[in-house]
Amino acid sequence: MRQHKLALCKEHYLEWIPEQTARFIKKYWMFGPDEKVLVAVSGGKDSLSLWDILQRLGYQADGLYIGLGIDEGIGYSAESQRLTVKFAEEHGLKLHIVDVQKEYGHSIPVLSNMSLRGHGRPCSVCGLAKRHEMNRIAYELGYDVLATGHNLDDEAAVLFGNTISWSKEYLLRQKPVLQGHDGLARKAKPLCRFYEKEMTAYAMLRGIEYIYEECPFSVGSTSIYYKELLNQLENERPGAKLNFYLKFLEAREDGLFASDPEKDPPPLFLCPTCGQPTMYEGQCSFCRMMEKANQK
Ligand code: AMP
Ligand code: FES
Ligand code: ZN
Repeated sequence: MRQHKLALCKEHYLEWIPEQTARFIKKYWMFGPDEKVLVAVSGGKDSLSLWDILQRLGYQADGLYIGLGIDEGIGYSAESQRLTVKFAEEHGLKLHIVDVQKEYGHSIPVLSNMSLRGHGRPCSVCGLAKRHEMNRIAYELGYDVLATGHNLDDEAAVLFGNTISWSKEYLLRQKPVLQGHDGLARKAKPLCRFYEKEMTAYAMLRGIEYIYEECPFSVGSTSIYYKELLNQLENERPGAKLNFYLKFLEAREDGLFASDPEKDPPPLFLCPTCGQPTMYEGQCSFCRMMEKANQK
């Protein structure tokens, strides 16, 4: 690991990753040993590894898989669900499965084809549905925190995108942990300081079977383009990606922004349809989207 000037054998690597994860969980006040964690598991290497690590660290961590109904590629959703269920069964872990089509009548590709948002790309519809369902299940089932498998490459790419457009609102919200309030679940990203290739190595060394294929709709996406740019930078300057992210976190702690929505959260309204908190009065974006879809 050139970025850390560190080389480890398999045995020590498989100890180092959970040790570091435990350190980040404490450092950023993500959750305590007695809290109930809901891990959002997609069947990919990051979220399955996260579930594996939390379990090895002794946390009470159940899984949540959201079926998106993506049949494209190798049958992306069915295969990722199969691998998630397999992991849960092999490790004796509790997994909740929610299927968007069964729950609301439309799969993500179908919703996307209705051109309700996202200019023909399913990712915007998909992101909205995932966020809504993750919050709903975490809240309804009484979990203290929702954990996702975002790694450093994900976080650095989002940070890069938000920086070149100076999207202050998104920059303000980009943190390893977002405290919950008023019906919003606390959200934590315990892997946010690990490079993607470090998670690939962990999953492989642990023998975790995960879906290799990326979501078929992510091909050509801006976030993949940003990841490639940052990888070029990283190749020339090992550690640049980590530095970019950590220096941003430091700068925000030092008062980069005058306001902090966590310390002074904006007033929220409740969606009259689903009861989840929203920024504006009236239905939340998810329920508005579903209502439009049902009228078509
Ligand atoms: P992505 O938005 O696909 O980059 O995924 C980021 C994180 O969201 C993953 O590491 C998972 O924790 C979670 N996630 C993505 N897709 C799903 C899914 N279908 N079901 C549950 N969690 C998911
Ligand atoms: Fe949602 Fe690809 S995972 S569009
Ligand atoms: Zn709603």
